[in-house]
Amino acid sequence: MSTDDTTTEASSSSTETEAETETESTCGASTETESSSSCGASTDSGGTASSCGASTDDEEEEEVGATVDDFEGEPGRLLAVGLGPGEPEGMTARASAALADAEHIVGYTTYIDLLPDEITDDADDIYSTPMCGEVSRTEEAIDRALAGNDVAIVGSGDPNVYALAGLALEILQSKGGTASAVDFEVVPGVPAAQSCGARLGAPLVNDTVSVSLSDHLTPMDDIESRLHAVAPEGFTVAIYNPWSRKRRENFQRCCEILLEHRDPDTPVGVVHGAGRDDEKTRITDLGTLPELGESDIVDMTTTIVVGNEETYVWDGRMVTPRGYETKYDY
Ligand SMILES: C[S@@+](CC[C@H](N)C(=O)[O-])C[C@H]1O[C@@H](n2cnc3c(N)ncnc32)[C@H](O)[C@@H]1O
Repeated sequence: MSTDDTTTEASSSSTETEAETETESTCGASTETESSSSCGASTDSGGTASSCGASTDDEEEEEVGATVDDFEGEPGRLLAVGLGPGEPEGMTARASAALADAEHIVGYTTYIDLLPDEITDDADDIYSTPMCGEVSRTEEAIDRALAGNDVAIVGSGDPNVYALAGLALEILQSKGGTASAVDFEVVPGVPAAQSCGARLGAPLVNDTVSVSLSDHLTPMDDIESRLHAVAPEGFTVAIYNPWSRKRRENFQRCCEILLEHRDPDTPVGVVHGAGRDDEKTRITDLGTLPELGESDIVDMTTTIVVGNEETYVWDGRMVTPRGYETKYDY
């Protein structure tokens, strides 16, 4: 089996603002609040909370503030909305409609910046914070909903893929709330593995697993065990959060583990910034992958797709057979 090494790049000029590429700070570190909290809650939760219960103190930002008892009146709605890869056309119609209906939109600055102007202009309030601060940002969204506002918390891809849907329910529960009281709903988006798979051809057609190399919430030992578990099994592997300056070793370790189990000729697709101005796609092989850790194409806005033992490259596309060829002649 052989692979061609091909690279394609989006032609539009780059105005790179992707803060995922800057995930150098230890999360939980400083977060600036760019728009002040204004949900109108009647909270009295002792100093560390904003008017919506969200912390404004860097040191204490990961502490949950107000509980449901601090809010009066009917709660509003809380939606976790997935934006897909980046470009507005990549958003589902359901996600666009949900955002158009939302009174308040809460999200990481990079994702808020990806929203079309007509959506942000129509919202009553936008609450955006830079990277990290996921807990305080999610709590802010919940408190705004508990205070009676219809709120959308947004993120890239899908809210169920390394994202905030679970955190929202966990925090809601810790506040003594219920999902039904805020009519909580997840509005799915196209996950990065699928957006990137589409750029590469058809690499995900058979059994696929995702592994995140971010050791912010999962110890690297556990990530290594997971890689050892999936590497020999014939799955296509989608690697999220592959590299940052502070996580170079995670990427190298991942390559070493995959190479312990798989042939260096195994096709690998690398997609940086799918749907963004600086999109780049490259099809290479596993033996070459370690070198890309120090190149522009691999960073925290990249997803890597490692083919299974049957994946091949044909005419610049990765192809993972589904198995039809074992039953049919074509
Ligand atoms: C915190 S995870 C969020 C995943 C997201 N919820 C999803 O469903 O795709 C961030 C990782 O997703 C991947 N990612 C997000 N947007 C991407 C894009 N436009 N192109 C390539 N990979 C992307 C990268 O691996 C990045 O490090």
